[in-house]
Amino acid sequence: MAKARREVSEKLKFVDIVFELIDARLPLSSRNPMLDQIVQQKPRLILLNKADLADPIQTNLWVNYFREQGHAVLALTAKEDKSVKQIVPASKKVLAEKIARDKERGLKPRAIRAMVLGIPNVGKSTLLNHLAGKKVASTGNRPGVTKGQQWLRFGSQLELLDTPGILWPKFEDPEVGKKLALTGAIKDDLLHLDDLALYQLSFFSRFYPEQLKERYKLTDDELFLELPELLMVITKKRGFKDDYERASEMLILELRQGRLGRFTLDRFEELSE
Ligand code: G4P
Repeated sequence: MAKARREVSEKLKFVDIVFELIDARLPLSSRNPMLDQIVQQKPRLILLNKADLADPIQTNLWVNYFREQGHAVLALTAKEDKSVKQIVPASKKVLAEKIARDKERGLKPRAIRAMVLGIPNVGKSTLLNHLAGKKVASTGNRPGVTKGQQWLRFGSQLELLDTPGILWPKFEDPEVGKKLALTGAIKDDLLHLDDLALYQLSFFSRFYPEQLKERYKLTDDELFLELPELLMVITKKRGFKDDYERASEMLILELRQGRLGRFTLDRFEELSE
């Protein structure tokens, strides 16, 4: 952690702005716990990525929340060029004062320099690939920033460090751990699959019952069963007999593939709790 932090801090000196990538399904849980301390006063644009997978109502609430906290923020789908194109104008807005100051001083306008930062799996490489318009070498999930990197150009207005800063996720709160594991941000072999699937079922029966009902062809009565029984019913319906582990694996996979529909695990309405 100390090494990752040091390396990121080192690279921050070279950039005008940081793009903090978070998962729109986990606007709090997918943030690095020390990001404010690491980034400090460096201008920042928060990118709520994977907006295509998140509940749009929740995403709007979270965007407003971050704005109210004084942050510049965009909801984004890093896989879509149209979405990624919003980044340059948003960055210019964040850096408007600096750009105006440079102009007054008679400095020639230059491309904005940025780096992408975030925990594993939030879409850093995907975003870099789309910004650069080509396949960028995968960096793996190694914390920190690789040495000897270069700048990637996005048109004439944006330059990005070619390797993102990979920071560690939150790991103290077990509920956050479950949410991160469900979305694939941390390895699920650290947790029991059936625990994870039961958490998923409890979450969907509470917030997205219709989506659950539709996907697994559940009756109203089945939807209100106790959780272990609900898992048993789904296991049987899928023809897995009593192989709950296999059913749990299927549930988690389908959630990650978006087959249960759009969802947001960090609930805005629970923020004050
Ligand atoms: P990282 O560098 O931050 O670790 O994340 P990476 O770009 O590798 O993305 C992790 C996974 O999230 C990838 O899926 C990627 O395709 C997916 N992803 C990234 N951005 C978006 C987005 O805006 N929307 C959606 N729906 N998915 C996104 P994968 O299954 O690991 O790989 P693959 O299916 O792309 O091969």
